[in-house]
Amino acid sequence: MSYVEKGDEMDYSKIKIPNHVAIILDGNGRWAQERGLTRSEGHQEGFNNLMKLTEHVFKTGVKVLSVYAFSTENFKRSKEEVDFLMNLFVDKFEEYAKKLKEINIKLVFSGGRGNPVRQDILDVIDKSEEMTKDCDGGIMNICFNYGSHLEMVEAFKEMHNDAINGKLDFNTINEDTIYHYLFQDLPPIDFLIRTSGELRLSNFMLYQASYAELYFPKTYFPAFDAAEFDKALIEYTKRDRRFGGINYEATNN
Ligand code: IPE
Ligand code: IPE
Ligand code: MG
Repeated sequence: MSYVEKGDEMDYSKIKIPNHVAIILDGNGRWAQERGLTRSEGHQEGFNNLMKLTEHVFKTGVKVLSVYAFSTENFKRSKEEVDFLMNLFVDKFEEYAKKLKEINIKLVFSGGRGNPVRQDILDVIDKSEEMTKDCDGGIMNICFNYGSHLEMVEAFKEMHNDAINGKLDFNTINEDTIYHYLFQDLPPIDFLIRTSGELRLSNFMLYQASYAELYFPKTYFPAFDAAEFDKALIEYTKRDRRFGGINYEATNN
């Protein structure tokens, strides 16, 4: 079966569109290194690519897009690299938020807000969320100073507090309650992409990705364009999601 129409336009009617896509944006450094550029230039190009790619992803019909932009562990990197990434965020993020508002996408953030996150970063986060709060065409979830372990630790603490204050009855806790206490109460991830060929999750959305289809293209993030995303959707379309059951139509017995 061919998924591509004449003239290279993808025929989306033949494609299964995942509701929640998550992308681990990896490979900025190696992309730059291969071109004799600095790691900072790689991050700049990764950010430019994110701006372009976001619009395309929502055009395909995806409703929620989560991206791993900076992990709790990424603070281990050199001061120069961390400062560059923080400044890039402060300088460019409002432009990105404005663009999302134009296409009716709501911006939300997942991640710790405590030290070492700078106040000017928190201000941009708050401003961008406020700017797009009434948009209802889709949700863009930026994972920044994000770690799945941190998210779970904070969720357990909050549940404990709510239980003490009588806001949560421990006997009623179910899987949805857990989602509610994570940084954002989003639907489970259907399709998780990690660019750059690394085969690990690096502390990313471990609860939310429990039944996600995983895809590990070798392409570095700055080069992961609309055509690469469409290729990923074709791969997703071919997957048989069973969730522990059996698809009897696909078997002969
Ligand atoms: C991903 O690219 C961006 C961040 C983690 C901020 P990397 O910076 O990890 O790029 P590589 O893995 O070194 O190529
Ligand atoms: C994971 O990538 C974090 C982000 C993409 C933001 P890393 O490049 O930091 O992960 P490791 O160190 O290779 O596991
Ligand atoms: Mg990396």
